[in-house]
Amino acid sequence: MGIHFGVDYYPEHWPRERWETDTELMQEMGVQVVRMAEFSWFKMEPREGEFHFEWLEEAIALLDKHGIKTILGTPTAAPPAWIIEKNPEIQPIDTQGRVRHFGGRHHDCQSNPTYRAHIKRFVTHMSQRFANNPGVIGWQIDNELGNSHGDLCMCDSCKARFQQWLEKKYGDIETLNDAWGTAFWSQGYNTFSQISTPLITAVGENPSAMLDWKCFCSDLIVDFAKWQADIIRENCPNHFITHNYMCFDDKVNYYDLGELLDFVSNDIYPAGYWQEQPHQPDSDIAASHDVVRSYKKKPFWIMEQQAGIAGWGTMARALDPGQMSVWAMQSVAHGADAVVFFRWRACAMGTEQYWHGILGHSGRPGRTYEEAKKLIHTFAPHMDEFEGAMPKPEVAIVHSFRQNYAFQIQPNHPDLRYVEHLKKYYKAFYDKKIPVDFVQDSDDLSQYKLVIAPLQYLMTPELEQHYIDYVEAGGHLVLDMRAGVKDANNICMTDRELPGRLGDLCGIEIPEYDCLFSKECQVLFGKREYPVSKWADIITLTDAKMIAEYTTSFYKQTPAVTENAYGQGKAWYVGTQPGAELMDELVEYFTQESDVERLGTAQDGVELMTRESDGQVWLFVINHTNEEKVYHLNDTYRLLEGEREEYLKPYEVQLFVKNKYGH
Ligand code: GAL
Ligand code: ZN
Repeated sequence: MGIHFGVDYYPEHWPRERWETDTELMQEMGVQVVRMAEFSWFKMEPREGEFHFEWLEEAIALLDKHGIKTILGTPTAAPPAWIIEKNPEIQPIDTQGRVRHFGGRHHDCQSNPTYRAHIKRFVTHMSQRFANNPGVIGWQIDNELGNSHGDLCMCDSCKARFQQWLEKKYGDIETLNDAWGTAFWSQGYNTFSQISTPLITAVGENPSAMLDWKCFCSDLIVDFAKWQADIIRENCPNHFITHNYMCFDDKVNYYDLGELLDFVSNDIYPAGYWQEQPHQPDSDIAASHDVVRSYKKKPFWIMEQQAGIAGWGTMARALDPGQMSVWAMQSVAHGADAVVFFRWRACAMGTEQYWHGILGHSGRPGRTYEEAKKLIHTFAPHMDEFEGAMPKPEVAIVHSFRQNYAFQIQPNHPDLRYVEHLKKYYKAFYDKKIPVDFVQDSDDLSQYKLVIAPLQYLMTPELEQHYIDYVEAGGHLVLDMRAGVKDANNICMTDRELPGRLGDLCGIEIPEYDCLFSKECQVLFGKREYPVSKWADIITLTDAKMIAEYTTSFYKQTPAVTENAYGQGKAWYVGTQPGAELMDELVEYFTQESDVERLGTAQDGVELMTRESDGQVWLFVINHTNEEKVYHLNDTYRLLEGEREEYLKPYEVQLFVKNKYGH
């Protein structure tokens, strides 16, 4: 498509006379695309059935004249006041039964049929109106689905829909009673109609019911998006449909949502105002890109890339010169084919007055504008070359929304967070310059030399078999604590010792365990002791050998980490959460044993990443710091951008290429 850079643009925030200046400046900067209108319902339909798209058409035409294409957002995350006045029942209800009112955004219930009817009317008109507009190339449905819907919605409409969802899943109420274990605390139901959305209880909740609720909410959001996608597909067969994801956010299963979309987009704010540190660790940002790529196993777009200070009521740190470009190119290195900056200009009013953009409040081009311009002119031509190219990691980390939900419901340890735990493994690979894919547990694993499957808590016979087959055929698999604890209904399994049939694969049994709370435990690996935390599985060896042992507590000198040769492959079991140092050592060992290659070596703060297609490999070297750095590549590449190989200026990004079969 040849579109690689853009901005999120809100012409309706500014007087009409300003638009020419905006579009000229954009063109000069190299902007090829804008996203518009995703919060502009009132402007487009100020009264029911009275449509005003002229202003938007005018903006689109003006942009198009400057060679800039448009992605339109459907504004369904912000229904206007006249809809709320007419149908107050579309406002969402929280767990305490309170209405969440108009005045911000996301004040909508996604199951409500009246709201769906408003959406149908509006999206039908909008998509018909823009279907043949030469400036429009695609659509973003709603905005960040799941954002702010954390404990929503408990209304009667959602309740009825939840009941239908359960009836479809379980067929009859006895089956549901069994699946939810309602024998406990007298929670049995006579009919589906007795089941409520999970309003606040006096105390406690049913973990099986909560797992279904979370999966239901995800399905509801997918259905909500489909409601719009179907209309747009019918009216605009030549346009693409995407949605702006939020990295690892979990309110909707992004793999499921991805099935509706032509490609996935993501919003990334490494230095949000809600963060304590100046910005997220580099490896966390990288992990976000890698998981976003995995949602559809395709290159993606960044629909909102941070372009300045983030802020609502308070503000985050200013970006160093070069930092925005580094983050943009990090997105590209991990698989983004296009980067759209949020936003063109900081607006003067509303909740997000302090969320800065390429231009500040004054609208005068300054440091950020010049930086973006330079970035685009340097890298856009190369991006034509590797558009569609994908990273090809040898390592995969299994990522599952259901496992995440199960740990949100019962964290086991008060501070155990599913995604944070995955990121601990991720960081060790990242630091070793080893690219990683995230995969779903149902994916074919055979292309990976090494698979890390953390927290395999909910287990099914099929999933056990999947892991066994992978290792049998020569795969290297790492399983860890809390594997095989629960069945698919979130009920503890009782037929074997932990980790169930995976015990055959790992050559171990786990008859006991210890939740460590804030106590750190020590583990001996090689000749050194390392701290571990959160959990200690107390392991008995059946076939496996011990490769690390506890040195504290009553289970000292028993295995903390085990290794088992199985079929053509190997299965490791890690019975605890290793601290960063031990994680580093273990990952070193696992990768050596699995023949996994590194791209090179580098000082801290330097990232290496590749994308490949048709025998070509593009390598990105990124300096995330304001200091000079050195690095070394393990293969020979040709430098395309950058000055001196193996040496980086502060915040420099270098681009290399090689032909797989030589040069
Ligand atoms: C995103 C959202 C944007 C804007 C931005 C800054 O989450 O999609 O609409 O709100 O954050 O807060
Ligand atoms: Zn509702």
